[in-house]
Amino acid sequence: MTDRYAVFGNPISHSKSPRIHALFAAQTHQDMSYEALLAPLDGFAAAVQAFVAAGGKGANVTVPFKEEAFRLASELTPRARAAGAVNTLSFAEDAIRGDNTDGAGLVRDLKANLGCDIAGRRVLLLGAGGAARGVILPLLEERPASLTIANRTEEKAFRLALEFAAHGDALPEACGFPQLAGRAFDLVINATSAGLADSQLPLPPGIFAPRALAYDMVYGRETPFMRQARAAHCRVADGLGMLVEQAAEAFLVWRGIRPATGPVLAALR
Ligand code: ATR
Repeated sequence: MTDRYAVFGNPISHSKSPRIHALFAAQTHQDMSYEALLAPLDGFAAAVQAFVAAGGKGANVTVPFKEEAFRLASELTPRARAAGAVNTLSFAEDAIRGDNTDGAGLVRDLKANLGCDIAGRRVLLLGAGGAARGVILPLLEERPASLTIANRTEEKAFRLALEFAAHGDALPEACGFPQLAGRAFDLVINATSAGLADSQLPLPPGIFAPRALAYDMVYGRETPFMRQARAAHCRVADGLGMLVEQAAEAFLVWRGIRPATGPVLAALR
């Protein structure tokens, strides 16, 4: 029997995940289906339970349900616990396992697809919401020279940095945008949602070190952050690679096989 998977979100019709997983399944000869399911804003848990009752084996979770999926899971991986959010659910006999593959997807996109080492580099993470939180542990595990979290609301960056005190030798640093003046970074990751509203971040000039990489988690549009980075002659990447890599990591969790992402990323581009 074909194994059923799905992605839950609201909205969901725009999701590229069904296409990505169909390409992975074809490539690895897995007998599985993967559909996009719209869950009502107040009915996520019920929608997941109905899917499990219908024989669903696993699911991805996207905006705005990742925190709710975290609470729904009966077991959590350390990386899901650190993220405070779940994007990958696996359904077992009497358990709902919650994982988070977003951070691993970002790190893999940076290292394998973009040839960007994180070890020993000065990393700046912009934003202190769910998207930022989800990638902090995997970034710290790469042992950057430093990890600085900068946020419009400085207080949120401080609180987030403190939460990761137990996870490495060094605490991530935290600050507001004005305190970035005079500093330079080798890797700047935009995890704010400012680009979705076409808003420019108040970044001081000079934060991009020579040969820095500017990475925006957003894909499918040119954000003001990308334009700022290009104006500073910086190499720029969007988040499409992270999307494909987090999907590959979820596929690995479910099927025990890591699909090749290069051809899938090329097909989506
Ligand atoms: P997500 O789950 O996408 O991270 P979120 O938890 O609502 O969404 O967080 C959004 C992030 O983008 C926050 O860091 C937010 O900054 P504040 O904490 O100060 O609100 C940031 N953000 C959104 N719009 C922004 C803007 N126009 N300028 C700067 N930061 C912005």
